[in-house]
This record gives sequence, structure tokens and C-alpha cells, in this order.
Amino acid sequence: TRRVTVRDLAAAKERGEKWPMLTAYDAMTASVFDEAGIPVLLVGDSAGNCHLGYETTVPVTLDEIAVLSAAVVRGTKRALVIGDLPFGSYQEGPVQALRSATRLVKEAGVGAVKLEGGERSLPQTELLVSAGIPVMSHLGLTPQSVNTMGYRVQGRGDEDAHRLLRDAKAAQDAGAFGVVLELVPEELAVEVSRSLHIPTIGIGAGAGCDAQVLVWTDMMGLTSGKVPRFVKQYAELRSVMGDAAREFASDVRGATFPAPEHAFH
Ligand code: KIV
Ligand code: NA
Repeated sequence: TRRVTVRDLAAAKERGEKWPMLTAYDAMTASVFDEAGIPVLLVGDSAGNCHLGYETTVPVTLDEIAVLSAAVVRGTKRALVIGDLPFGSYQEGPVQALRSATRLVKEAGVGAVKLEGGERSLPQTELLVSAGIPVMSHLGLTPQSVNTMGYRVQGRGDEDAHRLLRDAKAAQDAGAFGVVLELVPEELAVEVSRSLHIPTIGIGAGAGCDAQVLVWTDMMGLTSGKVPRFVKQYAELRSVMGDAAREFASDVRGATFPAPEHAFH
């Protein structure tokens, strides 16, 4: 078995084949998704909220993404693993971006990196691609800019829609192999997907994208509290795990675990 490559994803778009992508933050979860045939796993900086207990993605460090990415690579045989460049690891400019991305490629073994922004991240994307590091771009709602942007649908209205389309083309021209579209109107995501030859990966962007990504803890029902409307919940892990933990606690308190078959003599 060989790993999925960015060339495979380009070929899928040519054939009109859609593909799924999930986030992963640890080796065990990643191995489950790899065995289930998920071809692309993103070590997202959503690890901030979903794995590390931060309020947002903003505090996540490159060291943290490097550790989590290495675990996801170790847990998988087939998936393309993409490391998310966290806030502050590429905004200073292309040289900083190359240093950060190189760490994820060399230390963690990721096959690609992702960064937020189209035109504003153009020099970063160009240098990384020229150095041989595949880059995925991320447009629409970009959570690293939560302090200026908030969490709301992006690309509404003609001006914002045109800007997003320009950003997508800029990312493609800079050599990006794909573009995440987060929380944008479906009609706009369709237009971007038709205008680009590289795949679009939607999250809260409707059915017209070439691929779809979800945060794994959201789609598995592990996240506490409300999840966004665009998430479909495929499992109820929070209640499954909570019930199991309560049953274990009650067994221990009631001295019904361990049973004879769990003991050694
Ligand atoms: O960090 C993340 O999980 C992401 C996806 C939502 C695309 O960037
Ligand atoms: Na992210």
C-alpha cells in the first residue's frame, strides 16, 4: 500500500469523483479512519478546541501540531496526512512559513500543509510549493482571524463573493493543490468549484464542492454542547463513552468488577 498523494486528488477531480476528509489528532483515532478508507486526514488546529481544551484555534502552537501530526502519521498507512499551520507560524512571511512547514514535513512526516488565506498568503504558498511542499489553502471563515471576523457565513453579497473567488484563483495560481471553503453560501461554493481546476473541500459550504471535510469530534457526537448546523452527526460517542464510564464506576463501587474471569491466580 502506498499513501494517497495530491496527484490522486487532482485525478479524482478530473474524474468527477468526490472524496471525504476528516480531522484527526491522535494515532488511534487516525488508524480507525485510515482502516475505514478515509483518504485524507487533516491534523487541524481545531485540535485547539477539540483536543487540547483551548477556547479557539488561536493559542495552538507549531510544537503541538508537530506532536499530533507525528502521531497521526504513525497511526496510518494509506491516508494523506495534512498538517495545519497554526496561527503565528506563517503570518510573518514566506521564510517563516517554509521553516514551519519544513518542521511538519521532516519531524512529523506529513505529506502536505494547510494555511489560511488566499491573496494574503500568496508569497507563503508560492515558496512552499517551490520548495516541494504541497499546500492546501483555506478560505471563507478562517478561524485564526476570529478576533476580526467572528464566526459567521462569509462571501455573502457581491463584493465579498468576488473577493473569495479572487482569493481562490490566487491560491490556485500560487500552486495550491486544494482549497477549503468554510461557511460560505452553496451557490458561491459551486461557482468556485467550477472555476478552479484544483479540488474544493467544503465545510458548511453545501453540496457543490469536490470534497467534504468535518471535524471528527463533531460528526461523531463527541463534542460537548451544540455543534454547527452544517454538521451531520453519524454517531453519539459522548453518550456511548459517558454510559460506559458510569457503568464502570458503578461496577467498581458495587464490587461487581473485576469478576472471576478478570483475575489471575
Ligand atoms: O482545523 C480544522 O479542523 C480545519 C478544518 C475545519 C478545515 O481547518
Ligand atoms: Na484549521
